[in-house]
Amino acid sequence: MADTSTILLVIANGEEWAGVRKLLVNEYGYRVLVAHSIKKAMDTTEEAIVDLVICESVLDGEDAIGVLQQCRVSCPNAMRILVKEPNGNDGNYHQAAELGAIYQFIRKPIDEEQIGLVVKRALEASELARRHRLISRELKLNENSPLFSSEPAGKVVAKCSNFEKLVYISEPMAELCSIAKQAAGTDLPILIQGETGTGKELMARAIHFNSDRTDSPLLVQNCGGMSDELLHSELFGHKRGAFTGAISDRLGLFRAADGGTVFLDEISEVSASFQVSLLRFVQEGEIKPLGSDHVSHCNVRILCASNRRLEKMVEAGEFRRDLYFRLKGFELVVPPLRERRDDISVLAEFFVRKYSESMNVKLLGISNNVLDQLQHYDFPGNVRELENEIRRLVALAKDGEYLTTRHLSKEIASATPKQSKDDIQRNLAIDGNSLKEKVESLEKILVSEALKRLRWNQSEVARELGLSRVGLANKIKRYDLQNLH
Ligand SMILES: Nc1ncnc2c1ncn2[C@@H]1O[C@H](COP(=O)(O)OP(=O)(O)OP(=O)(O)O)[C@@H](O)[C@H]1O
Ligand SMILES: [Mg+2]
Repeated sequence: MADTSTILLVIANGEEWAGVRKLLVNEYGYRVLVAHSIKKAMDTTEEAIVDLVICESVLDGEDAIGVLQQCRVSCPNAMRILVKEPNGNDGNYHQAAELGAIYQFIRKPIDEEQIGLVVKRALEASELARRHRLISRELKLNENSPLFSSEPAGKVVAKCSNFEKLVYISEPMAELCSIAKQAAGTDLPILIQGETGTGKELMARAIHFNSDRTDSPLLVQNCGGMSDELLHSELFGHKRGAFTGAISDRLGLFRAADGGTVFLDEISEVSASFQVSLLRFVQEGEIKPLGSDHVSHCNVRILCASNRRLEKMVEAGEFRRDLYFRLKGFELVVPPLRERRDDISVLAEFFVRKYSESMNVKLLGISNNVLDQLQHYDFPGNVRELENEIRRLVALAKDGEYLTTRHLSKEIASATPKQSKDDIQRNLAIDGNSLKEKVESLEKILVSEALKRLRWNQSEVARELGLSRVGLANKIKRYDLQNLH
């Protein structure tokens, strides 16, 4: 359970629930998110970490129990409470209860104190269940069980932190998320930069859910690969007849998100003329739909993301400097995974849990060998690549097993520990005074490293180092490496 538990109210009428909301926030200190539609409820459980959901059985005349079923996948540890109608019209209640989608139900009319107490007890039960899972896991890890197979068992990975759905433990991410949380509370635009797959979109969603705009929409537009006309029409809207195919008026994303947040992904890709329209919007909140003379205004917070460094593009004259400075009210740079290796294990564990739950495979965890091998790999595709790897490993694993190195992809399986610059310098400093002696000592290091890594397969080592078999044998003899074998 997070320090402050988050409760999601999926309710038709905000007024009817105003008292409950006030009680949960003021008396119990919970964070309360509200969704008035099934879609908004689904989006919220996808994007925010929710500890408990209270859902009315019927919303806008529609059966809303599906929201609780969806929660089992998107927030598996959230407690789920159903509020039944007084007249007994409860949709698919029995089916959902049987599937385990419901922890408890309450019947209307609303009794604020009863709900407060039920929520408190449910969260306590959830915390107990969490501790129980942790303890059983540790016990299992300590057992001398044959299930551990030939590879040593996985460590219990340290408790990680969350910024909504972002999982991390490393120092750089902790610092970044702490700035992001502060930035979320201001209304300034935020520019999120970082390589592909580092979690920029997840960061943008977490920021929206931690801002004052959380009850209003978050709309996303990818700006890559779109013509100016289309992008303009998507964001600013158009009048009927503005261009061929514009058969009716279109509101545009900015006005649809009025009061909320718009996330512009791949902002580096917009044209120079579009940058001008965007600048006008960011400065004045002005919107001029295509084909219209009428200028209107709306209040939207902008978040942007880019994998290309915008400051470099500004230097190269490819992106407007004034727009760049407007967009980076805050600038967050998400580091690549290889620069925060501490996150690899907690993310791997997180993805194992996520995919073993959704694929219904009962795994014991990840073996140390897999965790070690993941540490050696550079992950050019960052967290997305790690996630895909773990998803594949889980799909290939069987109940009661650890994830082992058997199915690791070739690139990851062949990754080798990096020798840091310091190591090389140290080695160079230790052996030899003259250049010749230092070069020889480096050659010795490289040959012995390759021999160890390729398990003394001398043909492979010779091929990798560009030597003949005889040449390699000479070096082994010369540097007296036989005793390493
Ligand atoms: N810290 C994290 N915790 C959990 N999941 C993460 C984290 N970072 C990234 N992911 C997952 O990795 C995948 C890629 O993340 P996301 O789409 O946010 O990256 P991105 O930086 O926007 O990538 P791109 O530049 O390619 O658009 C998603 O499935 C996301 O859920
Ligand atoms: Mg993205």
